[in-house]
Amino acid sequence: MTTRLDRILAWMMLSAQSLIILTGALVRLTGSGLGCPTWPRCTPDSIVPYGALTMHSAIEFGNRLLGVGLGILGVITILVLLRRFRTRPDLVWFAVALTAVVPVQAVLGGITVLTGLNPWIVALHFVPSAAAVIASTLFVRRAYDSGAQPQAIGTQVQRGLAWTALILTAIVVVLGLLVTGAGPHAGDDMSARNGFDTLLMARLHAAPVWALVAVTIGSVLVSHAAVRRGAPGARSLRRASLVFTAVVAAQGALGYVQYFLGVPWMLVALHIIGVCAVLIAATWLLDSHYVRPPQSGTDAPAHDDEHASEGDTAAPAA
Ligand code: HEM
Repeated sequence: MTTRLDRILAWMMLSAQSLIILTGALVRLTGSGLGCPTWPRCTPDSIVPYGALTMHSAIEFGNRLLGVGLGILGVITILVLLRRFRTRPDLVWFAVALTAVVPVQAVLGGITVLTGLNPWIVALHFVPSAAAVIASTLFVRRAYDSGAQPQAIGTQVQRGLAWTALILTAIVVVLGLLVTGAGPHAGDDMSARNGFDTLLMARLHAAPVWALVAVTIGSVLVSHAAVRRGAPGARSLRRASLVFTAVVAAQGALGYVQYFLGVPWMLVALHIIGVCAVLIAATWLLDSHYVRPPQSGTDAPAHDDEHASEGDTAAPAA
């Protein structure tokens, strides 16, 4: 049985892992990538930008500080959850893994600075944080359920579409990182680019987005048909499909607008918030197909309409 505090910590973890993606992007978008020109210190003689405080050093150092804050949040979460290691070891392991991302990202961030913002390292630096957003989303959902073995709901087609959506999302994200590496937002005027053609990369990035749109529409149609049949758990699946479709449509539209306007940094920042939203919605959609009984006494967001009327109760797939 988890407590309200456990669930608050899980939500804080998801928020913090998403926020650090945004602040990391702001470092790049404001040209502050070498605001602290070295690592692990900010300047050759100081861990803080003492005596060298500029807007760029404040932004870069602020992002480092947020990483420290995330580490502290992780340790607190582990300590709080350790009390129920016997009953909910899964939650403790989530907290440990999400905290372990912090030193990994600190080292990758350091290599990013020491290589003068090499675009391949900048792209690599994004990947653990994207994985952490996916894991934090699962962590939030697990904090509401009983930790029992999951039971698959929906048809094989529905689950296949949800898996395809997550895989396509991962492909879109990786190609997005390559567009960024080719584009103008290097993080510093002197930093190298990956040498790819930006127009070609933007087209390659956008192509799987259209496939994703097709998959999301398919998912909505199939889940709507399941609701009409009165299939178990169909309403929560339809809702997750609708949310995912809306998020992908908004993010795709924003992607085109920012591209045609010449990637103004504020729109790119919004696109980064959209990346987190797409990752969360894709994970939520997929995990909604694998339900665990909710805990008694929680207003579980993951399973709320499993208690709905019309016999729409969560039950394993036939
Ligand atoms: C589901 C939809 C989409 C997702 C999840 C997504 C994801 C991403 C990601 C992860 C990045 C790299 C961010 C970074 O390195 O900080 C990116 C960059 C970019 N995306 Fe998308 N994207 C989507 C749709 C689109 C579409 C439809 C376009 C239209 C061409 C587009 C245009 C761009 C551009 C131009 C960049 C480079 C921005 C820069 O120079 O910093 N995106 N996208």
